[in-house]
Amino acid sequence: MIAHVLTQHAHPTAWTGWEERVRLMVRPRRYEHVVRVAELAARIAAANGLDVGRAYAAGILHDIARDLPDAELLRLAPPECEIDGLHPLALHGRAGRTLLERWGYADLVVLEAVEDHTTGPRGGNPVAQCVYIADVSEPGRGVNADIRDLALQDLNKALEKAIISKVTYLQGKGITVHPRTLRSYHALPCCAHLAASPPVDSPPVQPAATPAFR
Ligand SMILES: [Fe+2]
Ligand SMILES: [Fe+2]
Repeated sequence: MIAHVLTQHAHPTAWTGWEERVRLMVRPRRYEHVVRVAELAARIAAANGLDVGRAYAAGILHDIARDLPDAELLRLAPPECEIDGLHPLALHGRAGRTLLERWGYADLVVLEAVEDHTTGPRGGNPVAQCVYIADVSEPGRGVNADIRDLALQDLNKALEKAIISKVTYLQGKGITVHPRTLRSYHALPCCAHLAASPPVDSPPVQPAATPAFR
């Protein structure tokens, strides 16, 4: 699958050597997750008529900063809000983008997908949507198989379900929702009308709350 995707769809000028660089940056089990995310993101992209090569590349790159120490994450991605300061791990998407840019990676669609994978796609970037859904539902997680199956039929519906469930879950637990996650929530076509009245106190009801996503 990997070789097939790279041969058929990759963007060679933006890609050479990056897979190996990621392998050296993360723990072995993380790399296994990374490959599963890339493969699933590519499948979701193919099923929805989207950019398979970029979805695969973004999947490979998405957790490049995930195993860095907190101090390094804070240096690469200075906190934008109280949640960031309290939970530096949540910064690894933004930190990953910073790192990639400093190393010369220049595909803005992929960079945005890496940045947004922790808090949710900001809207208008289907590659970011593929990676976000693949990250929360790849088979190794053991959860969200329903979201994975849905994404292989209809990515927009899967995204809606995943993000609404996440916001509902967090708010149900009394946990403050990250402003970027709220942005992602408001980017959903069904929730755009709520954007004028933040914060979201009562998102549209979804019956089952899924486990918290990383
Ligand atoms: Fe991640
Ligand atoms: Fe991940």
